[in-house]
Amino acid sequence: MSANLVIIGTQWGDEGKGKIVDFLARDCAMVVRFQGGNNAGHTVVLGDQTYKLHLIPSGILYADKMCVLGNGMVIDPAVLLDEIKDLKSKGHFLRNLHISERAHVIMPYHKYFDELEEEMKGADKIGTTMRGIGPCYSDKVARMGIRMSELLNANIFMKRLQQIVPFKQKILNAFGKKRELVIAEIAAAYGQHAEQLRHYVCDTTTLLNRFVGEGKKILFEGAQGTLLGIDHGTYPFVTGSETTAGNASCGSGVAPCHIGKVVGVVKAYSTRVGSGYFVSELNNALGEQLRKQGHEYGTTTGRPRRCGWLDIVALKYAVMVNGLSELAVTKLDVLRNIDPLQICVGYTYRDKAVDHLPADMEMLQEIQPVYQNFPGWHEDISNCRAFAELPLTCQSYIQTMEKLLGLPVRIISVGAERNQTIVRA
Ligand code: GDP
Ligand code: IMO
Ligand code: MG
Repeated sequence: MSANLVIIGTQWGDEGKGKIVDFLARDCAMVVRFQGGNNAGHTVVLGDQTYKLHLIPSGILYADKMCVLGNGMVIDPAVLLDEIKDLKSKGHFLRNLHISERAHVIMPYHKYFDELEEEMKGADKIGTTMRGIGPCYSDKVARMGIRMSELLNANIFMKRLQQIVPFKQKILNAFGKKRELVIAEIAAAYGQHAEQLRHYVCDTTTLLNRFVGEGKKILFEGAQGTLLGIDHGTYPFVTGSETTAGNASCGSGVAPCHIGKVVGVVKAYSTRVGSGYFVSELNNALGEQLRKQGHEYGTTTGRPRRCGWLDIVALKYAVMVNGLSELAVTKLDVLRNIDPLQICVGYTYRDKAVDHLPADMEMLQEIQPVYQNFPGWHEDISNCRAFAELPLTCQSYIQTMEKLLGLPVRIISVGAERNQTIVRA
């Protein structure tokens, strides 16, 4: 079986994927992002440095790892250049960074449309990150997108702008948005970005497949989480791309037969940023305590994250649609001093048991959680480095997750630092 692995968020994002990718990248030759854009915020803590990565894969802190922004991504060139600058200022030279020529480019009008579409939805707004992600993916599907290869070709880029910009301007005008799109200005600004990015852009699909042929290990880094995926998430409160393991192939050009393992990252409780269904949400002091203890504020937008208990029904769905092989549980240290702990082990809808995640939004809104209580712990576990060092109640919380989800928990994270990690055989 192939040694290549995919790391996937199993909830609504911010599970700690960045930390786990950084940890597992040690044994890999390449780390690839295959979807999403700078809506993602992946934090890696290394000594006294905290890195907040939005576009660049979380393997970048190792000088010898190849890092790829795959064809399935949407890239805001100015944001990428800022991220490159920031990493360089911290001593990372990014000699092994590669950007797919097929990745789509986020344009200024995508951000305006993000704003406009949210306004149009009113009370039903998604609460997007306003980074232009959804509109950029919409244009990709409408065959109205601009890819990195077109950005690098000034003639084609201008042709595309002349075709697309008047269309976008008409819509903005029709909705009374005072946003003027000046083709010459866009061309000049993006032309500069193109020159700065040109040497990173290449045919990453061929590069990746060369690595596959040479038997070099590849790690595919998911962004967002399963329940935010456009196909399998809690639509319409989702992001613009598919976040599950299957998209690792489409978004990189590496065939499914070359992927051997899918690791699901599970936060020891649940969080969500933005609107939408969250059946185990705690709208009370306990939710506030989780937010405080877990520092649950968005890495990208700084918004407070909604907090709640672990949801086994939703997680079972993530196990199924991703074909998870094993789990990495993060932020277990955050649950300290919360006693008893609860886990949502089932749902009811109008007094009837529901054992799956329904698609119907109205039904989802009415669903009630069924909780089981578990004893908590009061010890600080952030210095534990072996499973046996964890308090027994903490061990039993992990074993309960394994039993309920039918999968082994191989990695347990007890702090943000790379070394605050327990690996089980
Ligand atoms: P991602 O988007 O899935 O990569 O997750 P984020 O980086 O947005 O959010 C996770 C946050 O939790 C970051 O601030 C991490 O530094 C932090 N973190 C990751 N793992 C742990 C852990 O085990 N314990 C604690 N206390 N913090 C963690
Ligand atoms: P990482 O990779 C958490 C959420 C937004 C919003 C919805 C759609 O750090 O886990 P978008 O801007 O993508 O159109 O917003 O998705 N969202 C995330 N929530 N973590 C993320 O990324 C997210 N990326 C998008 O809050 O609800
Ligand atoms: Mg995040």
